[in-house]
Amino acid sequence: MRPLQCVLRAQRCLRRGPLASVSWLLLRTCRAHSSVPSSACPRPERQQEDGVWKDFSSRLASGPTFQDFLRSASVPPEKPSSPEVEDPPPYLTVDELSGRQRKVYLETYGCQMNVNDTEIAWSILQKSGYLRTNNLQEADVILLVTCSIREKAEQTVWNRLHQLKSLKSKRLRSRVPLRIGILGCMAERLKEEILNREKMVDILAGPDAYRDLPRLLAVAESGQQAANVLLSLDETYADVMPVQTSPSAASAFVSIMRGCDNMCSYCIVPFTRGRERSRPIASILEEVRKLSEQGLKEVTLLGQNVNSFRDNSEVQFNNAVSTNLSRGFSTNYKAKQGGLRFAHLLDQVSRIDPEMRIRFTSPHPKDFPDEVLQLIHERDNICKQIHLPAQSGSSRVLEAMRRGYSREAYVELIQHIRESIPGVSLSSDFIAGFCGETEEDHLQTVSLLREVQYNIGFLFAYSMRQKTRAYHRLKDDIPEEPSKRSAADLCGRNDGNLKVIFPDVEMEDVTDSGLRVRAQPGDYVLVKITSASSQTLKGHVLRKTTLKDSTAHC
Ligand code: 5AD
Ligand code: SF4
Repeated sequence: MRPLQCVLRAQRCLRRGPLASVSWLLLRTCRAHSSVPSSACPRPERQQEDGVWKDFSSRLASGPTFQDFLRSASVPPEKPSSPEVEDPPPYLTVDELSGRQRKVYLETYGCQMNVNDTEIAWSILQKSGYLRTNNLQEADVILLVTCSIREKAEQTVWNRLHQLKSLKSKRLRSRVPLRIGILGCMAERLKEEILNREKMVDILAGPDAYRDLPRLLAVAESGQQAANVLLSLDETYADVMPVQTSPSAASAFVSIMRGCDNMCSYCIVPFTRGRERSRPIASILEEVRKLSEQGLKEVTLLGQNVNSFRDNSEVQFNNAVSTNLSRGFSTNYKAKQGGLRFAHLLDQVSRIDPEMRIRFTSPHPKDFPDEVLQLIHERDNICKQIHLPAQSGSSRVLEAMRRGYSREAYVELIQHIRESIPGVSLSSDFIAGFCGETEEDHLQTVSLLREVQYNIGFLFAYSMRQKTRAYHRLKDDIPEEPSKRSAADLCGRNDGNLKVIFPDVEMEDVTDSGLRVRAQPGDYVLVKITSASSQTLKGHVLRKTTLKDSTAHC
């Protein structure tokens, strides 16, 4: 087995400190070293003696305050230079860190956040001297940006890795061997399990480790596996301008926050993407301005909980005012305070270009203050569209999911949104087959769908995820195939192996002189088909039969 190089370096090393705070540190250093000449670094005692101190203190009084330094510390450096040049690790040369025109093929799985993350990863690699290719065959590096939200999403990536295996073995003897990397949520969730299971994977980079990609790839060049799955409390890639995959696109994603603190009981996101943190408003506005100048017509503000946005980087806004949640909503975490909130951001973003459409996804129903709704209503360029994930229509299931609201509170919020934004388009996510969900719970979800009349619904079968609260505390007791039939229905397969659903009622048994019986597992029954969907047939039962007898009726 190849050695695994798993470097969990402090993320701080990889980022440059804001300029203002650096200069403040220099001032302190100066005062501590008496050997520095007084012209370069005035020592207060001596200068007081010769009268210069008076002048110095008056200049100090009219100069920038400590608050100014902290405030400007939130603004990212204007021209971030490539991390690899500024901060090469001691064991790699600048040349080894450089991409040297090697071609990278990027493939994205999962949500829009991953689309944006792909652009961020590419921006970092491009600066480091890599080229991009859309042709798998000519790639020197293949990177898969992965998703872990459901088992199926991960299985797709495992299947893809199997396909890539043969490509890699063909290239084993070539001058530049093919390197394969797993980026994003799967890297974070499975860590070295991926490297052990698939020896052909060279690098792993979690969602907060993309700045480290040039180093990871340089280590992989020496034939070692390399991984960085360190999660950060403050990484927002604020200074990385994503490079759009399609340069002619009319719309773009702008990431405004990362991670999630909600801890819904079924969800892996807080474990793969870490703690919630918001990107400083100044850098978001700068990115949107640039996109507007490039002629883009639509931006979608992205995050796991966009409307929980809270920019705490500007000190003067860090007051002790707690957040007002939507009525009837609660959180699994301690109330957060202060900072610039989503309404402020939306207001600022929408003012940049009145002809640029603004969308946002995904919000959480708990954070919909009236200011946000009013803004959406008032501004022509903020789309009247809200994605409002309900997850279930049953209060009992919502409680087990730890969503922090009841069906009634959710419906009340929908009514309030409809009153505030007439004609609003609504969409939602739902999970079917959550732990302990009954037929009655499921029907309540169906009734919520009917009641709200969403424009779009995204329906997912529950997929148990390790580490989550549901995994540890609840029983995944719903069978794999979520039932489309009621408890009063039975299900069998016809000769063509199609699923057939029919009511569980008494019928004539031709095999036993016309007795009235109910179907039992293993019986053959004759069913008259009355309707069909893409996957199943529905009908009513005629009689219990034998294969021979049923053939006579065909
Ligand atoms: N199983 C099924 N669906 C899930 N989602 C999140 N976690 C799971 C899971 N374990 C769904 C939720 C969420 C959407 C992005 O994915 O509906 O809103
Ligand atoms: Fe997952 Fe809930 Fe956070 Fe959405 S809000 S990412 S469902 S934990």
